[in-house]
Amino acid sequence: LTDHRALANGVEIPVLGFGTWQIPDGDDAYDAVTSALEVGYRHIDTARAYGNEASVARAIADSGIARDEIFVTTKLPAEVKSYDGALRSFETTMDALGMDHVDLYLIHAPWPWNEQGADYRSGNAEAWRAMAEIQQSGRARAIGVSNFEVADLEALASSSDVVPQVNQIRFFVGNTQDAVTRYCHDHGILVEAYSPLATGSILDDEDVRAIADGYDRTVAQLCIRYALQKDTVPLPKTTNADRMRENADIDFEISDEDMARLDGIDDDKRE
Ligand code: A2P
Repeated sequence: LTDHRALANGVEIPVLGFGTWQIPDGDDAYDAVTSALEVGYRHIDTARAYGNEASVARAIADSGIARDEIFVTTKLPAEVKSYDGALRSFETTMDALGMDHVDLYLIHAPWPWNEQGADYRSGNAEAWRAMAEIQQSGRARAIGVSNFEVADLEALASSSDVVPQVNQIRFFVGNTQDAVTRYCHDHGILVEAYSPLATGSILDDEDVRAIADGYDRTVAQLCIRYALQKDTVPLPKTTNADRMRENADIDFEISDEDMARLDGIDDDKRE
């Protein structure tokens, strides 16, 4: 939990984060983040669209831990695809957080959630212009994207010289999105893995369990360790403090042979 790696612009990011997607606003989010910080997590991932920014921020403020010891990520809603809209939404986010800066600010998705497939590339370019200015101002120490595929990243690259520092994607055993992951690694874009446990659906997979048993580890630990060894920053989510501890206890090494076996696992069951 205390290990870091450097983003392309030198900003240090803890190698394991705590995801807050689907943790309801209010006491649930407050208690979960409070527990995560007690357990030792120092990297908290939220989003405007999760609706829990204010509770997450209150837990961080009440923790007594210095703000600069905690890496905070939040996201521009996927629907916001204009320059002015992005600047406005950032102000709303900063009001909710009550912070003077975030560590990482991401475009939540290339397309508005309700209109997947539409061409929003020019909108992304507009939003990205705002993101770059926000970073310049120092109010976001790093900027990036989420759910971007290769074509989305290429479109962004053709409109701006500012390379995202991060692409946060859905990534787990059997769903490693090799094309976009390779693109990111080739372009110095750190990949963050959300839903590293396939939102829980991988936990009863017999093939994965057999491999985990070989290390005397749980399936959750094996999957989080796998994401780490695939050069991503995993963001597991749980509201249970014992599981938070379990998910952070991943100081072991999966062999090349077992990594290859895990690479070969098919995800048809979980799409
Ligand atoms: P809960 O919050 O009740 O602990 P993902 O990180 O892929 O989105 O997966 C999150 C899901 O996996 C949640 O349903 C969470 O449930 C469950 N989960 C997280 N960590 C563990 C664990 N160590 N053991 C069992 N279930 C877990």
